[in-house]
Amino acid sequence: MNHAGLVANCARCHSGTIATGKPARHIVTNAACETCHKSTVTFAGARVDHSSLSGTCVGCHNGATAEGRPLRHLLTTLPCDTCHRTSFWTPVTYRHMSPLYTNHGPAVSCDSCHVANAQTVAWKFPAFKPDCAGCHVDKYRPMPHVKFERPVKVYYTVAELRDCTGSCHTYADSTQRTIVARNFNPHRALGGGW
Ligand code: HEC
Ligand code: HEC
Ligand code: HEC
Ligand code: HEC
Ligand code: HEC
Ligand code: HEC
Repeated sequence: MNHAGLVANCARCHSGTIATGKPARHIVTNAACETCHKSTVTFAGARVDHSSLSGTCVGCHNGATAEGRPLRHLLTTLPCDTCHRTSFWTPVTYRHMSPLYTNHGPAVSCDSCHVANAQTVAWKFPAFKPDCAGCHVDKYRPMPHVKFERPVKVYYTVAELRDCTGSCHTYADSTQRTIVARNFNPHRALGGGW
């Protein structure tokens, strides 16, 4: 077969009768063969240009026609493109809908919170949900959180500072009328360490 000069309308012949057509397990597409098949020597090694494809991602990415979700993937029924783009699988981009989510940025991986691979998270200290303390009580150290010094030194409790933004003034004494120290910097989830 001499393909010289043939650059389009391959399907005129390549429909399975005159010449090789799409095999049964071919990816689902109605696009012209030449969109993806540039060679007239072999059909193997074709690359997919997603901009020419239609249909849902999972229609192809189901583990049969194209790579699907690996085992141990986050358990979700959301469409693939809520989290994935077509050019690469990682890194993942996802915007939370839940008001309970605190943006920690990419430094904290999905599975540090979604430890069970579920869409929900296991709150380590549910009594303090939805505040920072719901996950971070174990990080709380009373010493830097002095409330007042006289007549005896008293520290803020976790409950008072549960959202990590508490004004955290240190007062002169238990009347709490005179502030002797101010801590202007609440902890931030995007700020790095504590
Ligand atoms: C006029 C009919 C005709 C057209 C148009 C045509 N081909 Fe073919 N092609 C054939 C025939 C006949 C063969 C050899 C027998 C076969 O493959 O069934 C062949 C063989 C091939 C092969 C060899 C491998 C294989 O599995 O057969 C490739 C690859 C191929 N064609 C690609 C293309 C592409 C890409 C186009 C469009 C740019 C195209 N052809 C257009 C008729 C055609
Ligand atoms: C959207 C892109 C796309 C279109 C359009 C497309 N193909 Fe494919 N095709 C592929 C990809 C990707 C493969 C897998 C290549 C591989 O595994 O190396 C493939 C594989 C094949 C194979 C098997 C090659 C092998 O050796 O395993 C054949 C035959 C084939 N295509 C024929 C066709 C024909 C005929 C048409 C048009 C009627 C067509 N394809 C349209 C992307 C496409
Ligand atoms: C018509 C079938 C089809 C549809 C629809 C489709 N894909 Fe693909 N995709 C493929 C095939 C086949 C490959 C294999 C890579 C190749 O051969 O180029 C692929 C590859 C990929 C890759 C790997 C790219 C790389 O180079 O490593 C990603 C990521 C991807 N697809 C994401 C998506 C997402 C997200 C959607 C939905 C918006 C989607 N795909 C829709 C068929 C499809
Ligand atoms: C809610 C978000 C979300 C949805 C929806 C989602 N994924 Fe994922 N996917 C992830 C996360 C998170 C990872 C792990 C990324 C990492 O390891 O950095 C992942 C990893 C993957 C990987 C492995 C990437 C690699 O190279 O290790 C594949 C393949 C994949 N997903 C395919 C899919 C497919 C196919 C769908 C749709 C059927 C889908 N995903 C839907 C979040 C999602
Ligand atoms: C800092 C902790 C944390 C991190 C990191 C995190 N999540 Fe979440 N995510 C949550 C919380 C909290 C919820 C609300 C559900 C609950 O309270 O059980 C949630 C809910 C979700 C939901 C349900 C729908 C929604 O938006 O409410 C999906 C899907 C999800 N997360 C995917 C991801 C993916 C994908 C990543 C990584 C890119 C990720 N999460 C990283 C804490 C986190
Ligand atoms: C749903 C659980 C969850 C909630 C709610 C949460 N975090 Fe986190 N946070 C994590 C996880 C998981 C990590 C990463 C592992 C670790 O450091 O414990 C983390 C990490 C951090 C870090 C980085 C620690 C370091 O050592 O670099 C800071 C700072 C932080 N969080 C602050 C906050 C603040 C402030 C809030 C409230 C506005 C908050 N977090 C709410 C789960 C949560």
